[in-house]
Amino acid sequence: MKVLVIGSGGREHTLCWKIAKSPLVDEVFCAPGNGGILEDATCIDIAPTDIKSIISFVKDNHIELSVVGPEAPLVDGIADAFSKEHLKIFGPDRMAAALEGSKSFAKILMKKNNIPTASFEIFGDPDEAKAFVHDALFPVVIKADGLAAGKGVIVTSHKEEAYGAIDKIMVQRAFDSAGDKVVVEKRLTGEEASFIAITDGKDILPMASSQDHKRAYDNDEGPNTGGMGAYSPAPMVDTEVYDKVMDKVLYPLITGLRKRGIIYRGFIYAGLMITGKTPYVLEFNVRMGDPEAQPLLMRLKDDIVPIMVEVAGGGSIKNMSFKWDSSPSVCVVMASKGYPGHYEKGKTISGIDAAERIQGVKVFHAGTKRHSDSIVTSGGRVLGVTALGRDIKDAIEKAYKAASRISFDGAFYRKDIGKKFARGGRGNL
Ligand code: AMP
Ligand code: GLY
Repeated sequence: MKVLVIGSGGREHTLCWKIAKSPLVDEVFCAPGNGGILEDATCIDIAPTDIKSIISFVKDNHIELSVVGPEAPLVDGIADAFSKEHLKIFGPDRMAAALEGSKSFAKILMKKNNIPTASFEIFGDPDEAKAFVHDALFPVVIKADGLAAGKGVIVTSHKEEAYGAIDKIMVQRAFDSAGDKVVVEKRLTGEEASFIAITDGKDILPMASSQDHKRAYDNDEGPNTGGMGAYSPAPMVDTEVYDKVMDKVLYPLITGLRKRGIIYRGFIYAGLMITGKTPYVLEFNVRMGDPEAQPLLMRLKDDIVPIMVEVAGGGSIKNMSFKWDSSPSVCVVMASKGYPGHYEKGKTISGIDAAERIQGVKVFHAGTKRHSDSIVTSGGRVLGVTALGRDIKDAIEKAYKAASRISFDGAFYRKDIGKKFARGGRGNL
């Protein structure tokens, strides 16, 4: 079978790498791909949001399954467009993707279905939002309603900061129409974890737990990023928390959507704040996490393709399961100096082969491209150096040893990925 993966980041490289291993798959294509994906797939120069061109390519090349990496095409309705043409795609339709595309939609749905989440109010007027903040007895988080490339959430400590965040989103329109509305919610404390599953709209097949590292610098300092590293499993997701996520978050969500006539098919990602033993939902994403995909798919022993085919074809995953390698995995993201702000591109990368000679190490590409005979940087997050280890300490050591063999001008990475896990003991899921 021929498979198309849509996207160009580390997550998409990992998906291409995993899908290419499937005995069911003859050829993998990626639109548009990157400098590393070239090794696992044929890259085609089509943007993920160019739905018309993607559909033409799929028809012309008899692609039997398409897998969507990023949220933007899903929110734009790529799955609906495929359905109209009777083409198979793994990823939720436009109505379902509103879970990520509109934070107010997600929050209202959570409230209706008693899914634990921070208390909140939604405002379409900046003065009303400020009046609410003025009277609030707790620190707040201000969130642009629409997609803002991961930058639309501002965690504030005091009222002046919250007013500034409301102005930035609603008055200065820093995220354009994504700032038509804001969600103002209570700031929670606890430990964050990512819980990703596959659903056919009825049954839910959970993946192993994982934890991202959102801040740019060590000790969770600096600005928020797309993610500077991740590991799996996440020790705070113990059996009690896991059961709560399934029973109080994911099943109520999928059932609640179904009641509204929305059949959710694809990856569903709950970004959680675990306070005590209660998992509160910070956000839903309608896709795999990046960089969570890297450590997760390194640990996945089964072929993911039969599950994707079943879900994309409207079938059932009731009798399907995932087998996980008991070895933990760690992904260290190497980024360009300046990220998540301005950074330079076109720096030659060396040492990837030497890094991959370490047993259990795989280097996934994100912002890279091929230039003549070399690989050069082309984005903020450049590589996801990922390792499986006997235990977490071993995985951390391998990932950092591998990263130290790679160099490019302006490379930087956090030095504390996985440390929390090492402190928290062994996760079991
Ligand atoms: P989101 O995109 O909604 O997950 O938010 C991005 C990041 O902002 C999260 O990973 C958290 O670190 C932080 N965040 C979001 N909502 C809250 C909240 N209610 N309380 C504390 N931190 C939050
Ligand atoms: N790593 C966070 C995300 O994929 O949204």
